[in-house]
Amino acid sequence: MKTIIALSLLSLSSLLHANDRIVGGELVDPATTETRYIVSLGGSCAGSIISPSWILTAAHCKSIFNSVVITGGGVDLKAKNRVVLKIKKSYVHPKNNPSKYSYDFALLQLETPIDFEKTGLAPITMVDPDLVKTGAIDDGVISTVLGWGTMSEGAQSITNLMRKVDVPIVSNDRANAPGSYNGQVDATMLAAGYDQGKKDSCQGDSGGPLTVVGTDGKPVLAGVVSWGKGCARANYYGIYANVAVGYSWIQDTMKANQ
Ligand code: ARG
Repeated sequence: MKTIIALSLLSLSSLLHANDRIVGGELVDPATTETRYIVSLGGSCAGSIISPSWILTAAHCKSIFNSVVITGGGVDLKAKNRVVLKIKKSYVHPKNNPSKYSYDFALLQLETPIDFEKTGLAPITMVDPDLVKTGAIDDGVISTVLGWGTMSEGAQSITNLMRKVDVPIVSNDRANAPGSYNGQVDATMLAAGYDQGKKDSCQGDSGGPLTVVGTDGKPVLAGVVSWGKGCARANYYGIYANVAVGYSWIQDTMKANQ
């Protein structure tokens, strides 16, 4: 009898929780090589390796830049063999407006360039303005967001195993409709999600990647997890810093600080 009650409680809770991861996502296959560019900023934010010495993350994560331990390699935050990366200097986009989350970009320059062969880490290519012209981030394009963030709005802890969820890009016009963000989504941002909600990034995913499929079939970095009203709420899509908008500042900053 006890077992039956325990079993039915178990299946009830798995039913209730089946759809509330990253939010509404799934575990990332540990064997995949397509997540080698993702790093964790101490679990509370994430970032993407864009070159041997540079990580792109969110400006609103900046309070942790001075103290955080950055790790890369694999989906498991608790794994003992994670690669530790040290920050030499951080750069926040000069036009970043923290109260509006506009230009939510920060670059972390590493103390030592990453040896990709030795570490198994790899960089990801960014969506540039030319790729945007081909429709790469048009309304309806399916994108993928990955991270160790909370599995539901208001959850207390991040996850140790990386999760991912697919969400369609939403045009800024649609995201700015009354009843949605009503004008708060500016041209430096990109929205993604479903009208009915249910699938989204959430707290702890910030700074991490939103990718679309590039011309060669590989993921390209289109967005940086930035903000949202709650997580996965109907009509309140996830909002991402639009990488194509930050592209020239990112390139210039990397070039000017070698
Ligand atoms: N600002 C959050 C963070 O610092 C990310 C929130 C993303 N929210 C969303 N609904 N997609 O982790």
